[in-house]
Amino acid sequence: MAQAVYLQTYGCQMNERDSEEILGMLGAQGYVVVDREEDADVILLNTCSVRAHAEERAFGKMGLMQKLKRERPSLVLGILGCMAKAQREEVFRRLPQVDLVAGPAEIYDLPDLLAGVAERRQRAGLGAGARMLAVDRKVRPLERRPTTDYRAGQVTAFVTIMEGCDKKCAYCIVPTTRGHEVSRPVNEILEEIQQLALAGYRQVTLLGQNVNSYGKRFLDGSGWVGPGRRRALLQLAARTGEAAASSDGAPAPPRLVDFPALLRAIDSKTSIDRIRFTTSHPFDAHAELFRAMAECQAVCEFLHLPVQSGSDRILRAMRRGYTAGTYLGQLARLRALVPHVALSTDIIVGFPGETDADFEATCALMERVRYDSAFVFKYSPRPGTEAAGWPDDVPQTVKERRNQAVLELQSRISHEKLEAWVGREVEVLVEERNRRGQLTGKSRSNTTVVLEGSDDLIGELVPVRVARVTGTTMIGDPVDRPASAR
Ligand code: 5AD
Ligand code: SF4
Repeated sequence: MAQAVYLQTYGCQMNERDSEEILGMLGAQGYVVVDREEDADVILLNTCSVRAHAEERAFGKMGLMQKLKRERPSLVLGILGCMAKAQREEVFRRLPQVDLVAGPAEIYDLPDLLAGVAERRQRAGLGAGARMLAVDRKVRPLERRPTTDYRAGQVTAFVTIMEGCDKKCAYCIVPTTRGHEVSRPVNEILEEIQQLALAGYRQVTLLGQNVNSYGKRFLDGSGWVGPGRRRALLQLAARTGEAAASSDGAPAPPRLVDFPALLRAIDSKTSIDRIRFTTSHPFDAHAELFRAMAECQAVCEFLHLPVQSGSDRILRAMRRGYTAGTYLGQLARLRALVPHVALSTDIIVGFPGETDADFEATCALMERVRYDSAFVFKYSPRPGTEAAGWPDDVPQTVKERRNQAVLELQSRISHEKLEAWVGREVEVLVEERNRRGQLTGKSRSNTTVVLEGSDDLIGELVPVRVARVTGTTMIGDPVDRPASAR
């Protein structure tokens, strides 16, 4: 009989996409996907390590799953993803019934690993966990990406363009969990997106830990390797008459393709209607990215550009590679090119050594930028990171207070910015019906829009007049006009 698999995902969109790939692979092996743990033969958690809280949720959930296994010893339990890599032995220590611990780079080994678990358990008998540990790869072997696929949605799709992260932000566990950066070949990405477009998808979100360093290193060792090297290659290309990657979207030698060139290629060579991307590191976001955003019709006017702090002292300690001033300069250039661009950010409060004055600088920056939305996090020391070696010296109560203050500040600004849309027309990509039965979708600026209408509108780009706003949502009515007019 077919094995039934239950998979729960924690963390970021990269993890969501990895989970889709996992289900695609297992589906091709004959597994069926179930949405209740009780019905599963295999329970997998695709975990996140970015903050202690995310890890504790996964530990708690797997603790409950161990109870199920006591009643049903044939059950297979697996911890996958970032926590598998970051906590390795700790997982087996705290969760002795777990059979498999496999990191993000081992995702394509999963069918073999699960077969290995079955074999081990056959030999050793049921009961205890098989205790298979697979976390040693430094780079995800992208060439082994399966052709089988599974997608959670039917209108929008995630497309991973690069894996891993070469940055060394002092607080961040991701370079440890996801390994070195490696980019997928341009042609493969273009093919995947065109296939999605032909299958009826209207929007892709390009995913990577730092999409702006796309093209730095490909699996065959080519790539532009670093900013200085990229400049040198472009000069060489100009001298030898090779097409410059970023100038016109023409096919470029693979070693010269950077993220703006990739955006231009997707915009000009595929028929996808909307392109989004996440996440961007300000250090690698250049004017050429902003020009590509301005000139590519399909690229939505929205940028998530995590600033983390408004204090130069803290930014230096975080090893972010920019100052508040250079960051604001980038946004000014972007806004000159894409006037109504919507912006979002990530903020960490309570980083080691953060004083009241540092915190005020963050609030001042947020007032200056006036983001449309912001994700706010209380600093959480991650074992193995540089900052974990420093005193976590901002008291929890102060972290809470700063967290609350930033949320209130952002909520006021978000509301003011949202109100300014009332009476205006926005293009909405209608995605689904919400629990109340209303149609919902997203504007190009990434705001949720609620409207009335028939199911025919799902998957369509619909012009909508914004009637009012509540919380973080726009409410509007379709404008009676062909959807192609933007
Ligand atoms: N503590 C708190 N927040 C963190 N982030 C990353 N690491 C930590 C940490 N140790 C936040 C950053 C990042 C987002 C995904 O999570 O703001 O941009
Ligand atoms: Fe969590 Fe970061 Fe891993 Fe995504 S990459 S799952 S946010 S630790």
